[in-house]
Amino acid sequence: MAADMKILAAVFLFCFADCASVSNGPVPVVIWHGMGDSCCNPLSMGSIKRLIEKNIRDVYVRSLEIGSSIEEDTLNGFFMNVNDQINMVCQKLATDKKLQAGYNAIGFSQGGQFLRAVAQRCPTPPMLNLISVGGQHQGVFGFPHCPGDNETLCEYVRKLLNFGAYVDEIQDRLVQAEYWHDPLNEDEYRTKSVFLADINQEQSVNQTYRNNLMKLKNMVLVKFLQDTMVEPRESEWFGYYVPGQDKKLYTLFDSPLYTQDKLGLKSLNATGRLHFLTSNTDHLQFTEQWFIDNILDKFLK
Ligand SMILES: *[C@@H]1O[C@H](CO)[C@@H](O)[C@H](O)[C@H]1NC(C)=O
Ligand SMILES: *[C@@H]1O[C@H](CO)[C@@H](O)[C@H](O)[C@H]1NC(C)=O
Ligand SMILES: *[C@@H]1O[C@H](CO)[C@@H](O)[C@H](O)[C@H]1NC(C)=O
Repeated sequence: MAADMKILAAVFLFCFADCASVSNGPVPVVIWHGMGDSCCNPLSMGSIKRLIEKNIRDVYVRSLEIGSSIEEDTLNGFFMNVNDQINMVCQKLATDKKLQAGYNAIGFSQGGQFLRAVAQRCPTPPMLNLISVGGQHQGVFGFPHCPGDNETLCEYVRKLLNFGAYVDEIQDRLVQAEYWHDPLNEDEYRTKSVFLADINQEQSVNQTYRNNLMKLKNMVLVKFLQDTMVEPRESEWFGYYVPGQDKKLYTLFDSPLYTQDKLGLKSLNATGRLHFLTSNTDHLQFTEQWFIDNILDKFLK
């Protein structure tokens, strides 16, 4: 008996010494950039990373790089199949020792819905808080601007979307086609969308997605009230066009996704874990102070 106790104490002490650094520090943060951006742009994700590091002592922040260079990372935001991107990220997270006790995730623009897919598909290591900053959770129907002022690239993407977002070859390769949601062709969207329709339980209801999403401590959805990039901007809160036209909108609370609790969002809301935030600015144009007050102090500390 006494010997058993000694062993137990030894095991406990061993783990205490060894595991303390993993579990006692601040919760690490994983960020995923938006379209036209990259992991390490000093003016965008770089400044967010620095801001978090400045405000949370010793925090580990990982800004995801999709590919092996900044150029590749930027291009992959347009031309690498999103499901492949999610697999790649799940792999990165699973093998990052510093994340194994759990992490908070912040997705910017399309990175918002991509990190939601990570939460739904890859529960290990556990995502704790998911913060979507201007993510398009019901997709988009329109491509009004290109970020990063690359009009050549912008025109090319627009041409492909106009040619046919649901054409197999385009679905397979063009990121923005994979969350293109045509309210005039809901059936086609439902059957052809290789990414968004799947994570939004449009084809069938995958209970694993629901169970995994409900493990989140909090899900935070930021909508930009003056957004001129996302059409419609209500998509940032899971709202969208009523099927059959592109003017009238419904909100998350009116949608079957919510009322039938297909994704666990109703359960998250019922337990006070679904948060709707706004910034009264254009797409991603929040101030540092807004970020500190609304995100950092409330969900990252
Ligand atoms: C549901 O999602 C999980 C996690 O991604 C996946 O492993 C499983 O194959 C999916 N089930 C169906 C029926 O698609
Ligand atoms: C725009 O994107 C294309 C395709 O990636 C690239 O070749 C070109 O250099 C970019 N132009 C500018 C001005 O960044
Ligand atoms: C969502 O949660 C809030 C806060 O708990 C609650 O006031 C509201 O009634 C809920 N909405 C719906 C539609 O369930």
